[in-house]
Parts: sequence; structure tokens; C-alpha cells
Amino acid sequence: MTRQLIAGNWKMNGLRKDGTALARGLVEKLATDGGLDCDLLVCPPAHLLLAIGDILEGSGIALGAQDCHTEEAGAHTGDLSAAMLADAGCSHVIVGHSERRQNHGETDDLVKAKTTAALKAGLTPVVCVGETQAERDEGKTLEVIERQVRRSLPNKPGFVLAYEPVWAIGTGLTPTPADVAEVHTYLRELLIELFGPLEEGMRILYGGSVKPDNAGELLAVRNVNGALVGGASLKVEDFLGIALAGAKAGS
Ligand code: PGA
Repeated sequence: MTRQLIAGNWKMNGLRKDGTALARGLVEKLATDGGLDCDLLVCPPAHLLLAIGDILEGSGIALGAQDCHTEEAGAHTGDLSAAMLADAGCSHVIVGHSERRQNHGETDDLVKAKTTAALKAGLTPVVCVGETQAERDEGKTLEVIERQVRRSLPNKPGFVLAYEPVWAIGTGLTPTPADVAEVHTYLRELLIELFGPLEEGMRILYGGSVKPDNAGELLAVRNVNGALVGGASLKVEDFLGIALAGAKAGS
């Protein structure tokens, strides 16, 4: 069974005192509890990457960013390149999150260019796909995610895919385990079609209102290899509670 990856997407939350306290809390609790049999990743807002990277050093918790630019360098005011994120200590970067697709008009083509740039810089992109409520109501879930997968993924493996139904993000709503199983099985088949047999790097995460009390059943679903966690990643107990469920599901 694949070791699970539990990733925290802190989004635009946390001043320095909050983010550093959260990171310290995670490191200390992990050290006290003796570690967990799953991989952990936190993706703080960009202004905290260096400070959090220092705190995470030696803890086994990986550092990721929430977005990157397609170019390596140049006249792009306000943007950060994948190479800069790698330089800041990141090993991962989230790309194509629905909040960026919706709020910044990011297209599948742009997401593909970002995932490709991330790979080139040596980062593992966590590429997000997922349908809206309206698309689900119209029975178009698989059609939408197939289009997103075919157009947003890079031409070679080395990424993590995250299925995040838009309607489940930050709402407290989640698909049933059977719904998740249907989508993740479909995604697995697509990945095998596109990239060949399953590789270590080809994890498929579920994201959208994952909490400690639903993580067990969601992470136990076949072809779910971890979680991308928003709100619940901002509390040490909640994030590590989900990680514990991930460790159990992956063992
Ligand atoms: P949520 O966010 O856990 O708060 O629903 C998930 C995400 O957007 O990655």
C-alpha cells in the first residue's frame, strides 16, 4: 500500500506569530508522539516560507508553496518562480487550486505550464482538479475532471494529483466514500492511461472538508493516497488527527 501524504494548505491565513506557533506545535507534538507512518507537508503563505522552513528543519515535515509562476525569472511583479520556491526550501507547490482557477481566472493551460515549471525546478507539483456543484448536479463530474486532468497535467510523472470537489471546499460537505471511490478509481485509470503503471510519485489526494472525524473513512477508500487539508490544517490537533488516520489507512 502507498504511504499516505497529508498536506496542509494554510491558504491566506496566519501572521508570523500564528504560523510559527503552528509549525512549532506540529514539530513538538510529532516529536513527543514519536512520529507517524505517513508523509506530512505544510503549505504556508509565501511570506512565512523561510521562517517555517527553519522550524521544520529535521522534523521530516516537508514545506510547500501555494502557487508559482510559469517563468523562471523576469518582469512579473508580485509573482514567485518555482526556482525561488525551491531556493526558499520548498519541495512541493500546489497548482491549479480551485480558488486560483476561480479568483484568478487560471485555465487548464496555465496550470499545465505551472506544473511543468515546478517539475523543471525540482519541485513536486500538487495539481488540483474538481467539479463545481452545478457540474455535479448536471452529472458532469467525471467529464469535468477528465478534461482538467488531460489538460492540466505535465507530460511526465513526478506530480501529486488532488481531487477537490469545489462544493466540498470549506463548506463542511463531503462526498460519500462511494462517490470518492468512483472518482479516484476513474482518476487512477486515467493516470495509468497517460503515464503507464502506477509509480510511487503518483498519489491521488482527496481534499474538501477533511476533518479528524471523517478522515478515517475518506482515507480508507481505495486509490485515496492522502488528503489536502485546508481549515483543519490550521490546528495542530486536527491536522495530526487527520495524519493519524492517514497513517492507519496507509499501513
Ligand atoms: P478545506 O480546504 O479543508 O478547508 O475544505 C481544502 C482545500 O481547499 O485544499
